[in-house]
Amino acid sequence: MNELMLESKGVSKIFGGLTAVDQVDMKVFKGDIFGIIGPNGAGKTTFFNMCTGFYTASKGKLFFEGKDITKMSSDRIAQLGITRTFQNIKLFKYMNVLENISVGFHINTCSNVFDAVFHTKRYKKDEEYVMQKSMEILKKLGLQDYAYMMAGKLPYGIQRKVEIARALAVNPKLILLDEPAAGMNPMETDSLMEFIRLLNKDGYTIILIEHDMKFVMNLCNNIMVLNFGKKICEGTAEVVRNDQNVKEAYFGKGLTRGIA
Ligand SMILES: Nc1ncnc2c1ncn2[C@@H]1O[C@H](COP(=O)(O)OP(=O)(O)O)[C@@H](O)[C@H]1O
Ligand SMILES: [Mg+2]
Repeated sequence: MNELMLESKGVSKIFGGLTAVDQVDMKVFKGDIFGIIGPNGAGKTTFFNMCTGFYTASKGKLFFEGKDITKMSSDRIAQLGITRTFQNIKLFKYMNVLENISVGFHINTCSNVFDAVFHTKRYKKDEEYVMQKSMEILKKLGLQDYAYMMAGKLPYGIQRKVEIARALAVNPKLILLDEPAAGMNPMETDSLMEFIRLLNKDGYTIILIEHDMKFVMNLCNNIMVLNFGKKICEGTAEVVRNDQNVKEAYFGKGLTRGIA
């Protein structure tokens, strides 16, 4: 029996007069690579924002491992084990890769501001621990060669991986990726696909939003399609590919994005 990890029940988000997410039901199970697709403005990012506590749902409920997280803060949700990356890369460009990863740790260590300002013993111990753990993450993901390179100077595809690696610092169970392949060339996209498979094999459950249909179809065991905030289809790549509503959502209004 699969273990239910994240569940949304009738979740909606209303901005003024606009229903950006409209009564979405979703079940993500432990070990899934779950895809969320849909045309621009379909409500995908807004949905992520509710799952991670950046927005509060206007209606409905969200549960993580059976706990009601609907009204929890983003910090609390991160502590429970959900982490995310953003649509635009948010690395510290002038820090090296190792330092970027270490930033992700700071919500997990016990140093307080006093320790940091006065460089107490505890702070130094924490710093050593953080650097060591950061290096472990880089090694695990095959990124150790970049550890001392400045993040902003790295190729785009590598920056994306570093960003995902940083998200692992909080020791998550579930990772939410918002358009991880956006702006990548085909080689970078393939390499990212392998990278995500590696994370999944390592035990992380993954939900990803993506425009690139081929990417989603190849990677995800279950896919949910949103259009104008509503779930219009859910299933395997095969089901989604052949669904009439999905075809209309992508092609009906003259959109040219292809379905693989
Ligand atoms: N903070 C906000 N305030 C008002 N409208 C928003 C806000 N965030 C998103 N929206 C609107 O909600 C809809 C869904 O947006 P979004 O979730 O970003 O779509 P997607 O990620 O699928 O492209 C869009 O019409 C967008 O303009
Ligand atoms: Mg978006």
